[in-house]
Amino acid sequence: MPRQRRVVQGGWLYPGDGTPTKRQQAKFTSTVGPSWAAGVAQDGEYRRTAPTEAVGSIIESGQDAKAEILDKIDMLVSSEEGSVDMDGRLAPVFSLCLVLVAGMYLAGCGPKAVTVDAAKLQLFKALPDLMESQKNPITEAKVSLGRMLYYEPRLSRNHDVSCNSCHDLAQYGVDGQPVSDGHKGQKGTRNSPTVYNAAGHFVQFWDGRAPDVEEQAKGPVMNPVEMAMSSEKQVVAVLKSMPGYVDAFKKAFPEERDPVTYNNMARAIGAFERRLVTPARWDKFLQGDQAALTDQEKTGFNKFMEAGCQACHAGAYLGGEMYQKLGAVKPFPDASDLGREAVTKQESDRMIFKVPSLRNIEKTAPYYHTGKVPTLEAAVKEMAEYQLGKQLKDDEVASIVAYLKTLTGSIPAEYVKQPELPKSTAKTPKPSNT
Ligand code: HEC
Ligand code: HEC
Repeated sequence: MPRQRRVVQGGWLYPGDGTPTKRQQAKFTSTVGPSWAAGVAQDGEYRRTAPTEAVGSIIESGQDAKAEILDKIDMLVSSEEGSVDMDGRLAPVFSLCLVLVAGMYLAGCGPKAVTVDAAKLQLFKALPDLMESQKNPITEAKVSLGRMLYYEPRLSRNHDVSCNSCHDLAQYGVDGQPVSDGHKGQKGTRNSPTVYNAAGHFVQFWDGRAPDVEEQAKGPVMNPVEMAMSSEKQVVAVLKSMPGYVDAFKKAFPEERDPVTYNNMARAIGAFERRLVTPARWDKFLQGDQAALTDQEKTGFNKFMEAGCQACHAGAYLGGEMYQKLGAVKPFPDASDLGREAVTKQESDRMIFKVPSLRNIEKTAPYYHTGKVPTLEAAVKEMAEYQLGKQLKDDEVASIVAYLKTLTGSIPAEYVKQPELPKSTAKTPKPSNT
Protein backbone atom coordinates (compact mmCIF):
# COMPACT_ATOMS: atom_id res chain seq x y z
CA MET A 1 0.00 0.00 0.00
CA PRO A 2 1.60 3.26 -1.04
CA ARG A 3 1.65 5.84 1.71
CA GLN A 4 2.45 9.46 1.52
CA ARG A 5 3.97 11.55 4.17
CA ARG A 6 3.02 15.16 4.35
CA VAL A 7 4.16 17.75 6.78
CA VAL A 8 2.03 20.77 7.28
CA GLN A 9 2.77 23.58 9.65
CA GLY A 10 -0.07 25.32 11.37
CA GLY A 11 -3.76 24.63 11.13
CA TRP A 12 -6.47 23.55 13.47
CA LEU A 13 -6.35 20.43 15.50
CA TYR A 14 -8.84 18.89 17.84
CA PRO A 15 -7.81 17.31 21.10
CA GLY A 16 -7.52 13.54 20.84
CA ASP A 17 -9.52 12.85 23.95
CA GLY A 18 -12.89 12.86 22.29
CA THR A 19 -13.91 16.42 23.02
CA PRO A 20 -13.95 18.32 19.76
CA THR A 21 -14.93 21.54 21.47
CA LYS A 22 -11.54 22.97 22.35
CA ARG A 23 -9.72 24.06 19.26
CA GLN A 24 -6.02 24.54 19.40
CA GLN A 25 -3.65 25.91 16.86
CA ALA A 26 -0.48 23.89 16.70
CA LYS A 27 2.19 22.68 14.41
CA PHE A 28 1.26 19.31 13.12
CA THR A 29 2.22 16.53 10.81
CA SER A 30 -0.30 14.81 8.64
CA THR A 31 -0.04 11.39 7.21
CA VAL A 32 -2.27 10.37 4.40
CA GLY A 33 -2.73 7.00 2.78
CA PRO A 34 -5.17 5.42 0.39
CA SER A 35 -7.60 4.55 3.14
CA TRP A 36 -7.05 6.98 5.95
CA ALA A 37 -5.55 10.26 6.96
CA ALA A 38 -4.16 11.41 10.24
CA GLY A 39 -2.87 14.60 11.72
CA VAL A 40 -0.79 14.81 14.84
CA ALA A 41 0.41 17.92 16.60
CA GLN A 42 4.12 18.15 16.96
CA ASP A 43 3.94 18.41 20.70
CA GLY A 44 2.18 15.09 20.50
CA GLU A 45 -0.88 16.27 22.29
CA TYR A 46 -3.51 16.44 19.61
CA ARG A 47 -4.41 14.15 16.82
CA ARG A 48 -7.21 13.14 14.56
CA THR A 49 -7.90 10.59 11.90
CA ALA A 50 -10.46 9.99 9.20
CA PRO A 51 -11.01 7.77 6.19
CA THR A 52 -9.08 9.17 3.27
CA GLU A 53 -11.71 8.36 0.71
CA ALA A 54 -13.69 11.26 2.06
CA VAL A 55 -10.85 13.66 1.49
CA GLY A 56 -9.08 11.93 -1.36
CA SER A 57 -9.81 14.49 -4.01
CA ILE A 58 -8.36 17.23 -1.92
CA ILE A 59 -5.27 15.23 -1.13
CA GLU A 60 -4.53 14.96 -4.82
CA SER A 61 -4.74 18.66 -5.31
CA GLY A 62 -1.35 19.53 -3.90
CA GLN A 63 0.55 21.33 -1.19
CA ASP A 64 -1.66 24.35 -0.79
CA ALA A 65 -4.70 22.30 -0.05
CA LYS A 66 -3.25 20.55 2.97
CA ALA A 67 -4.72 22.81 5.58
CA GLU A 68 -8.01 22.29 3.86
CA ILE A 69 -7.60 18.54 4.01
CA LEU A 70 -7.22 18.68 7.70
CA ASP A 71 -10.15 20.99 8.08
CA LYS A 72 -12.16 18.52 6.09
CA ILE A 73 -11.03 15.80 8.43
CA ASP A 74 -12.13 17.96 11.31
CA MET A 75 -15.56 18.16 9.81
CA LEU A 76 -15.78 14.45 9.27
CA VAL A 77 -14.57 13.67 12.68
CA SER A 78 -16.76 16.11 14.49
CA SER A 79 -19.78 14.91 12.59
CA GLU A 80 -19.22 11.52 14.19
CA GLU A 81 -20.68 12.50 17.51
CA GLY A 82 -17.48 13.74 18.95
CA SER A 83 -15.44 10.60 18.46
CA VAL A 84 -12.27 12.29 17.46
CA ASP A 85 -9.97 9.54 18.49
CA MET A 86 -10.75 6.98 15.87
CA ASP A 87 -7.60 4.88 15.98
CA GLY A 88 -9.29 2.04 17.75
CA ARG A 89 -12.24 1.89 15.46
CA LEU A 90 -10.39 2.34 12.23
CA ALA A 91 -7.53 0.09 13.02
CA PRO A 92 -9.09 -3.25 12.13
CA VAL A 93 -10.74 -1.94 8.99
CA PHE A 94 -7.98 0.13 7.50
CA SER A 95 -4.95 -1.33 9.29
CA LEU A 96 -4.38 2.09 10.59
CA CYS A 97 -0.86 3.07 11.22
CA LEU A 98 -0.77 6.12 13.32
CA VAL A 99 0.60 7.92 16.12
CA LEU A 100 3.65 9.68 16.68
CA VAL A 101 5.30 11.26 19.54
CA ALA A 102 6.79 14.65 20.12
CA GLY A 103 9.30 15.26 17.40
CA MET A 104 7.19 13.48 14.83
CA TYR A 105 8.88 10.81 12.88
CA LEU A 106 6.67 9.17 10.36
CA ALA A 107 8.87 7.22 8.01
CA GLY A 108 8.77 3.46 8.08
CA CYS A 109 5.21 3.33 9.21
CA GLY A 110 4.17 -0.10 8.00
CA PRO A 111 0.83 -1.79 8.24
CA LYS A 112 1.66 -3.60 11.49
CA ALA A 113 3.59 -0.79 13.12
CA VAL A 114 2.91 -0.56 16.83
CA THR A 115 1.68 2.78 18.01
CA VAL A 116 2.37 4.53 21.26
CA ASP A 117 -0.08 7.15 22.40
CA ALA A 118 1.81 10.40 22.69
CA ALA A 119 -0.33 11.55 25.60
CA LYS A 120 0.92 8.63 27.67
CA LEU A 121 4.50 9.67 27.14
CA GLN A 122 3.79 12.93 28.95
CA LEU A 123 4.12 11.02 32.21
CA PHE A 124 7.77 10.31 31.50
CA LYS A 125 10.83 12.48 31.07
CA ALA A 126 14.24 12.02 29.56
CA LEU A 127 17.09 11.85 32.05
CA PRO A 128 18.78 15.16 32.85
CA ASP A 129 22.50 15.56 32.05
CA LEU A 130 23.20 15.84 35.75
CA MET A 131 21.19 15.93 38.95
CA GLU A 132 21.71 19.38 40.40
CA SER A 133 21.51 20.56 43.98
CA GLN A 134 21.35 24.17 45.13
CA LYS A 135 22.84 23.13 48.45
CA ASN A 136 25.82 21.39 46.89
CA PRO A 137 26.74 22.91 43.52
CA ILE A 138 28.83 20.59 41.38
CA THR A 139 32.41 21.72 40.67
CA GLU A 140 35.18 19.82 38.92
CA ALA A 141 37.34 19.93 42.06
CA LYS A 142 34.56 18.47 44.21
CA VAL A 143 33.81 15.78 41.67
CA SER A 144 37.40 14.67 41.40
CA LEU A 145 37.74 14.48 45.20
CA GLY A 146 34.40 12.69 45.42
CA ARG A 147 35.54 10.13 42.87
CA MET A 148 38.62 9.31 44.97
CA LEU A 149 36.59 9.02 48.15
CA TYR A 150 34.07 6.79 46.41
CA TYR A 151 36.82 4.29 45.64
CA GLU A 152 38.65 4.76 48.98
CA PRO A 153 38.91 1.54 51.04
CA ARG A 154 40.81 3.37 53.79
CA LEU A 155 37.48 4.94 54.74
CA SER A 156 36.68 1.50 56.17
CA ARG A 157 37.96 0.03 59.42
CA ASN A 158 39.89 -2.81 57.77
CA HIS A 159 40.80 -0.86 54.59
CA ASP A 160 38.91 -3.40 52.52
CA VAL A 161 35.46 -1.92 51.83
CA SER A 162 34.68 1.18 49.73
CA CYS A 163 31.44 2.54 48.33
CA ASN A 164 32.40 0.75 45.14
CA SER A 165 32.47 -2.65 46.90
CA CYS A 166 28.68 -2.67 47.18
CA HIS A 167 27.90 -0.21 44.37
CA ASP A 168 30.32 -1.31 41.64
CA LEU A 169 30.28 1.43 39.04
CA ALA A 170 31.45 -0.96 36.36
CA GLN A 171 28.44 -3.17 37.13
CA TYR A 172 25.66 -0.62 36.96
CA GLY A 173 26.26 0.46 40.55
CA VAL A 174 25.38 -2.81 42.28
CA ASP A 175 27.17 -5.94 43.54
CA GLY A 176 24.68 -8.49 42.24
CA GLN A 177 24.16 -10.02 45.68
CA PRO A 178 20.87 -10.35 47.59
CA VAL A 179 22.51 -8.48 50.48
CA SER A 180 26.06 -7.13 50.54
CA ASP A 181 29.19 -8.07 52.46
CA GLY A 182 30.49 -5.30 54.66
CA HIS A 183 33.11 -5.16 57.41
CA LYS A 184 34.38 -8.69 58.23
CA GLY A 185 31.98 -10.12 55.69
CA GLN A 186 28.95 -9.11 57.75
CA LYS A 187 25.67 -9.04 55.87
CA GLY A 188 23.23 -6.17 55.85
CA THR A 189 19.49 -6.75 55.75
CA ARG A 190 18.58 -4.98 52.53
CA ASN A 191 19.63 -5.24 48.91
CA SER A 192 22.09 -2.57 47.69
CA PRO A 193 20.33 -0.29 45.22
CA THR A 194 22.25 1.26 42.35
CA VAL A 195 23.93 4.64 42.73
CA TYR A 196 23.37 5.47 39.05
CA ASN A 197 20.64 8.09 38.71
CA ALA A 198 19.99 7.82 42.45
CA ALA A 199 20.78 11.47 43.20
CA GLY A 200 17.62 12.43 41.32
CA HIS A 201 15.29 10.53 43.66
CA PHE A 202 13.18 12.51 46.09
CA VAL A 203 14.80 10.74 49.05
CA GLN A 204 17.54 8.13 49.56
CA PHE A 205 17.47 4.54 50.88
CA TRP A 206 14.63 2.05 50.56
CA ASP A 207 12.92 3.74 53.48
CA GLY A 208 13.82 7.32 52.58
CA ARG A 209 15.69 8.00 55.81
CA ALA A 210 18.20 10.34 54.12
CA PRO A 211 16.93 13.36 52.18
CA ASP A 212 19.73 13.45 49.59
CA VAL A 213 22.93 11.77 48.46
CA GLU A 214 25.06 14.08 50.61
CA GLU A 215 23.29 12.99 53.80
CA GLN A 216 23.20 9.43 52.55
CA ALA A 217 26.99 9.25 52.12
CA LYS A 218 27.51 9.81 55.84
CA GLY A 219 25.68 6.58 56.67
CA PRO A 220 27.76 3.68 55.34
CA VAL A 221 31.16 4.94 56.51
CA MET A 222 30.15 4.59 60.14
CA ASN A 223 27.65 1.74 59.76
CA PRO A 224 29.11 -1.16 61.80
CA VAL A 225 28.20 -3.79 59.19
CA GLU A 226 29.36 -1.67 56.25
CA MET A 227 32.57 0.37 56.54
CA ALA A 228 32.58 0.32 60.34
CA MET A 229 34.62 3.43 61.14
CA SER A 230 34.34 4.27 64.84
CA SER A 231 33.86 8.05 64.65
CA GLU A 232 33.88 11.07 62.39
CA LYS A 233 37.12 12.05 64.08
CA GLN A 234 38.73 8.79 63.01
CA VAL A 235 37.64 9.39 59.40
CA VAL A 236 39.03 12.92 59.44
CA ALA A 237 42.29 11.61 60.93
CA VAL A 238 42.64 9.15 58.06
CA LEU A 239 42.04 11.86 55.47
CA LYS A 240 44.34 14.40 57.15
CA SER A 241 47.14 11.85 57.28
CA MET A 242 47.49 12.00 53.50
CA PRO A 243 48.72 15.25 51.88
CA GLY A 244 47.06 14.20 48.61
CA TYR A 245 43.64 14.40 50.30
CA VAL A 246 44.39 17.59 52.21
CA ASP A 247 45.21 19.29 48.90
CA ALA A 248 42.15 17.91 47.18
CA PHE A 249 39.85 19.12 49.99
CA LYS A 250 41.43 22.58 49.79
CA LYS A 251 40.72 22.74 46.07
CA ALA A 252 37.19 21.45 46.47
CA PHE A 253 36.28 23.81 49.32
CA PRO A 254 38.53 26.82 48.69
CA GLU A 255 36.57 29.18 50.98
CA GLU A 256 36.99 27.06 54.08
CA ARG A 257 39.76 27.37 56.62
CA ASP A 258 39.58 23.73 57.73
CA PRO A 259 38.13 21.94 54.74
CA VAL A 260 38.87 18.33 55.72
CA THR A 261 35.62 17.48 57.51
CA TYR A 262 33.20 14.58 57.57
CA ASN A 263 30.52 16.79 56.05
CA ASN A 264 32.76 17.87 53.19
CA MET A 265 33.65 14.23 52.52
CA ALA A 266 29.95 13.58 52.05
CA ARG A 267 29.46 16.70 49.91
CA ALA A 268 32.29 15.68 47.59
CA ILE A 269 30.94 12.15 47.22
CA GLY A 270 27.48 13.63 46.61
CA ALA A 271 28.79 15.94 43.88
CA PHE A 272 30.42 12.96 42.18
CA GLU A 273 27.16 10.98 42.35
CA ARG A 274 25.17 13.84 40.85
CA ARG A 275 26.69 13.14 37.47
CA LEU A 276 26.09 9.40 37.51
CA VAL A 277 23.43 9.41 34.81
CA THR A 278 22.89 6.68 32.22
CA PRO A 279 20.87 7.87 29.23
CA ALA A 280 19.26 5.00 27.35
CA ARG A 281 17.36 4.21 24.17
CA TRP A 282 14.19 5.13 26.05
CA ASP A 283 15.47 8.71 26.31
CA LYS A 284 16.03 8.87 22.56
CA PHE A 285 12.48 7.65 22.07
CA LEU A 286 11.11 10.26 24.46
CA GLN A 287 13.07 12.87 22.55
CA GLY A 288 11.22 11.88 19.40
CA ASP A 289 13.29 9.17 17.76
CA GLN A 290 10.56 6.67 16.88
CA ALA A 291 13.11 4.17 15.63
CA ALA A 292 14.86 4.02 19.02
CA LEU A 293 12.41 1.34 20.15
CA THR A 294 11.38 -1.78 18.25
CA ASP A 295 7.74 -2.69 17.81
CA GLN A 296 8.16 -5.38 20.42
CA GLU A 297 9.44 -2.84 22.91
CA LYS A 298 6.66 -0.40 22.10
CA THR A 299 4.16 -3.17 22.68
CA GLY A 300 5.87 -3.79 26.00
CA PHE A 301 5.47 -0.14 26.93
CA ASN A 302 1.79 -0.31 26.07
CA LYS A 303 1.44 -3.37 28.31
CA PHE A 304 3.28 -1.57 31.11
CA MET A 305 0.71 1.22 30.83
CA GLU A 306 -2.25 -1.14 30.51
CA ALA A 307 -1.18 -2.99 33.62
CA GLY A 308 -0.96 0.32 35.50
CA CYS A 309 2.74 0.28 36.46
CA GLN A 310 3.06 4.00 35.70
CA ALA A 311 0.88 4.82 38.70
CA CYS A 312 4.05 4.42 40.72
CA HIS A 313 6.88 4.13 38.19
CA ALA A 314 6.86 7.32 36.08
CA GLY A 315 8.89 10.49 35.57
CA ALA A 316 12.52 10.63 34.51
CA TYR A 317 13.53 7.73 36.73
CA LEU A 318 10.39 5.59 36.45
CA GLY A 319 10.25 5.71 40.21
CA GLY A 320 12.11 7.58 42.93
CA GLU A 321 9.27 10.07 43.27
CA MET A 322 7.06 8.70 46.06
CA TYR A 323 6.55 6.16 48.80
CA GLN A 324 4.18 3.24 48.36
CA LYS A 325 3.21 0.19 50.28
CA LEU A 326 4.75 -3.07 49.12
CA GLY A 327 1.58 -5.11 48.93
CA ALA A 328 -0.65 -2.18 47.99
CA VAL A 329 -3.49 -4.45 46.83
CA LYS A 330 -2.60 -7.86 48.22
CA PRO A 331 -0.46 -8.37 51.35
CA PHE A 332 3.16 -9.12 50.49
CA PRO A 333 4.16 -12.43 52.11
CA ASP A 334 7.55 -11.31 53.47
CA ALA A 335 6.72 -8.60 56.00
CA SER A 336 9.83 -8.91 58.13
CA ASP A 337 11.10 -5.44 57.18
CA LEU A 338 8.94 -2.68 58.62
CA GLY A 339 9.96 -0.22 55.91
CA ARG A 340 9.23 3.40 56.78
CA GLU A 341 7.63 2.45 60.07
CA ALA A 342 11.16 2.02 61.47
CA VAL A 343 11.85 5.66 60.54
CA THR A 344 8.58 7.36 61.50
CA LYS A 345 7.40 4.97 64.26
CA GLN A 346 3.94 5.18 62.71
CA GLU A 347 2.21 1.87 62.27
CA SER A 348 0.52 3.23 59.14
CA ASP A 349 3.98 3.31 57.54
CA ARG A 350 4.51 -0.42 57.87
CA MET A 351 5.85 -1.96 54.63
CA ILE A 352 5.95 1.44 52.97
CA PHE A 353 9.03 1.84 50.79
CA LYS A 354 10.36 4.32 48.30
CA VAL A 355 9.20 3.29 44.84
CA PRO A 356 12.55 2.40 43.28
CA SER A 357 13.68 3.65 39.89
CA LEU A 358 13.46 1.22 36.99
CA ARG A 359 16.47 2.71 35.20
CA ASN A 360 18.98 -0.08 34.36
CA ILE A 361 16.66 -2.55 36.06
CA GLU A 362 17.82 -5.30 33.68
CA LYS A 363 21.29 -5.03 35.23
CA THR A 364 20.48 -4.74 38.93
CA ALA A 365 19.20 -8.19 39.94
CA PRO A 366 18.34 -9.55 42.43
CA TYR A 367 15.29 -7.44 43.20
CA TYR A 368 13.19 -5.83 45.91
CA HIS A 369 14.51 -4.53 49.21
CA THR A 370 14.92 -8.15 50.26
CA GLY A 371 17.10 -9.06 47.28
CA LYS A 372 15.17 -12.31 47.26
CA VAL A 373 13.55 -11.95 43.86
CA PRO A 374 16.08 -13.38 41.43
CA THR A 375 14.79 -12.44 37.98
CA LEU A 376 13.20 -9.43 36.36
CA GLU A 377 10.36 -11.64 35.12
CA ALA A 378 9.55 -12.70 38.67
CA ALA A 379 9.81 -9.09 39.89
CA VAL A 380 7.34 -7.87 37.25
CA LYS A 381 4.90 -10.72 37.88
CA GLU A 382 4.90 -10.10 41.63
CA MET A 383 4.47 -6.37 41.13
CA ALA A 384 1.35 -6.97 39.04
CA GLU A 385 -0.01 -9.34 41.65
CA TYR A 386 0.75 -7.46 44.88
CA GLN A 387 0.62 -3.84 43.69
CA LEU A 388 -2.16 -4.09 41.13
CA GLY A 389 -4.07 -7.27 41.88
CA LYS A 390 -3.46 -8.60 38.38
CA GLN A 391 -2.20 -11.93 37.13
CA LEU A 392 -0.02 -11.31 34.10
CA LYS A 393 0.47 -14.09 31.59
CA ASP A 394 4.03 -15.13 30.78
CA ASP A 395 3.94 -13.45 27.38
CA GLU A 396 2.71 -10.21 28.96
CA VAL A 397 5.53 -10.36 31.48
CA ALA A 398 8.04 -11.00 28.69
CA SER A 399 6.67 -8.06 26.77
CA ILE A 400 6.99 -5.69 29.75
CA VAL A 401 10.50 -6.98 30.37
CA ALA A 402 11.40 -6.24 26.73
CA TYR A 403 10.31 -2.66 27.33
CA LEU A 404 12.16 -2.40 30.65
CA LYS A 405 15.38 -3.35 28.88
CA THR A 406 15.17 -0.14 26.86
CA LEU A 407 15.91 1.62 30.16
CA THR A 408 19.39 0.13 30.24
CA GLY A 409 21.73 3.03 29.66
CA SER A 410 25.37 3.36 28.92
CA ILE A 411 27.86 3.59 31.76
CA PRO A 412 30.00 6.74 31.57
CA ALA A 413 33.26 4.72 31.53
CA GLU A 414 35.62 7.67 31.47
CA TYR A 415 33.80 9.46 34.29
CA VAL A 416 33.77 6.44 36.59
CA LYS A 417 37.32 5.29 35.96
CA GLN A 418 39.05 4.56 39.24
CA PRO A 419 41.51 7.38 39.96
CA GLU A 420 44.90 7.02 41.56
CA LEU A 421 44.46 7.36 45.32
CA PRO A 422 46.75 9.43 47.56
CA LYS A 423 49.53 7.46 49.25
CA SER A 424 49.31 6.48 52.91
CA THR A 425 51.87 7.97 55.28
CA ALA A 426 53.29 6.84 58.62
CA LYS A 427 50.43 8.75 60.25
CA THR A 428 47.68 6.89 58.42
CA PRO A 429 45.83 4.60 60.89
CA LYS A 430 46.45 0.92 60.21
CA PRO A 431 43.70 -1.47 59.12
CA SER A 432 41.89 -3.26 61.91
CA ASN A 433 40.03 -6.52 61.65
CA THR A 434 38.23 -6.23 64.93
C1 HEC B 1 28.48 -2.96 52.63
C2 HEC B 1 27.77 -2.48 51.47
C3 HEC B 1 27.64 -1.00 51.23
C4 HEC B 1 28.64 -0.05 51.25
C5 HEC B 1 30.09 -0.21 51.59
C6 HEC B 1 27.99 1.18 50.83
N1 HEC B 1 26.67 0.97 50.57
FE1 HEC B 1 25.39 2.29 49.82
N2 HEC B 1 23.86 1.05 50.20
C7 HEC B 1 24.00 -0.24 50.64
C8 HEC B 1 22.69 -0.76 51.01
C9 HEC B 1 22.40 -2.15 51.54
C10 HEC B 1 21.78 0.28 50.77
C11 HEC B 1 20.28 0.25 51.05
C12 HEC B 1 20.10 0.38 52.55
C13 HEC B 1 18.73 0.82 52.97
O1 HEC B 1 17.95 1.27 52.15
O2 HEC B 1 18.43 0.72 54.17
C14 HEC B 1 22.54 1.39 50.23
C15 HEC B 1 21.99 2.59 49.78
C16 HEC B 1 22.73 3.57 49.13
C17 HEC B 1 22.16 4.68 48.41
C18 HEC B 1 20.69 4.97 48.22
C19 HEC B 1 20.23 4.66 46.83
C20 HEC B 1 18.73 4.68 46.69
O3 HEC B 1 18.24 4.37 45.61
O4 HEC B 1 18.03 4.99 47.67
C21 HEC B 1 23.21 5.42 47.92
C22 HEC B 1 23.14 6.68 47.10
C23 HEC B 1 24.43 4.77 48.38
N3 HEC B 1 24.10 3.65 49.09
C24 HEC B 1 25.70 5.27 48.18
C25 HEC B 1 26.79 4.78 48.90
C26 HEC B 1 28.05 5.51 49.07
C27 HEC B 1 28.35 6.87 48.50
C28 HEC B 1 28.86 4.71 49.81
C29 HEC B 1 30.26 5.01 50.31
C30 HEC B 1 30.37 6.16 51.19
C31 HEC B 1 28.11 3.48 50.07
N4 HEC B 1 26.86 3.59 49.55
C32 HEC B 1 28.64 2.39 50.74
C33 HEC B 1 25.17 -0.94 50.73
C34 HEC B 1 26.41 -0.34 50.83
C1 HEC C 1 1.34 0.92 43.92
C2 HEC C 1 2.68 1.26 43.47
C3 HEC C 1 3.37 0.33 42.48
C4 HEC C 1 2.89 -0.18 41.32
C5 HEC C 1 1.51 0.01 40.71
C6 HEC C 1 3.96 -0.93 40.73
N1 HEC C 1 5.07 -0.87 41.52
FE1 HEC C 1 6.87 -1.70 41.14
N2 HEC C 1 7.50 -1.17 42.98
C7 HEC C 1 6.79 -0.46 43.91
C8 HEC C 1 7.49 -0.47 45.18
C9 HEC C 1 7.03 0.21 46.46
C10 HEC C 1 8.65 -1.25 44.98
C11 HEC C 1 9.71 -1.58 46.03
C12 HEC C 1 9.41 -2.95 46.58
C13 HEC C 1 10.31 -3.32 47.72
O1 HEC C 1 10.24 -2.70 48.77
O2 HEC C 1 11.07 -4.26 47.59
C14 HEC C 1 8.63 -1.67 43.58
C15 HEC C 1 9.61 -2.44 42.99
C16 HEC C 1 9.63 -2.80 41.65
C17 HEC C 1 10.69 -3.52 41.02
C18 HEC C 1 11.99 -3.97 41.68
C19 HEC C 1 12.95 -2.83 41.72
C20 HEC C 1 14.25 -3.15 42.36
O3 HEC C 1 15.20 -2.36 42.21
O4 HEC C 1 14.38 -4.18 43.04
C21 HEC C 1 10.34 -3.69 39.70
C22 HEC C 1 11.14 -4.38 38.63
C23 HEC C 1 9.04 -3.10 39.54
N3 HEC C 1 8.65 -2.55 40.74
C24 HEC C 1 8.32 -3.08 38.36
C25 HEC C 1 6.96 -2.81 38.31
C26 HEC C 1 6.11 -3.14 37.19
C27 HEC C 1 6.57 -3.74 35.87
C28 HEC C 1 4.85 -2.77 37.54
C29 HEC C 1 3.58 -2.99 36.76
C30 HEC C 1 3.26 -4.40 36.51
C31 HEC C 1 4.93 -2.18 38.86
N4 HEC C 1 6.22 -2.24 39.30
C32 HEC C 1 3.86 -1.63 39.54
C33 HEC C 1 5.58 0.17 43.68
C34 HEC C 1 4.75 -0.13 42.61
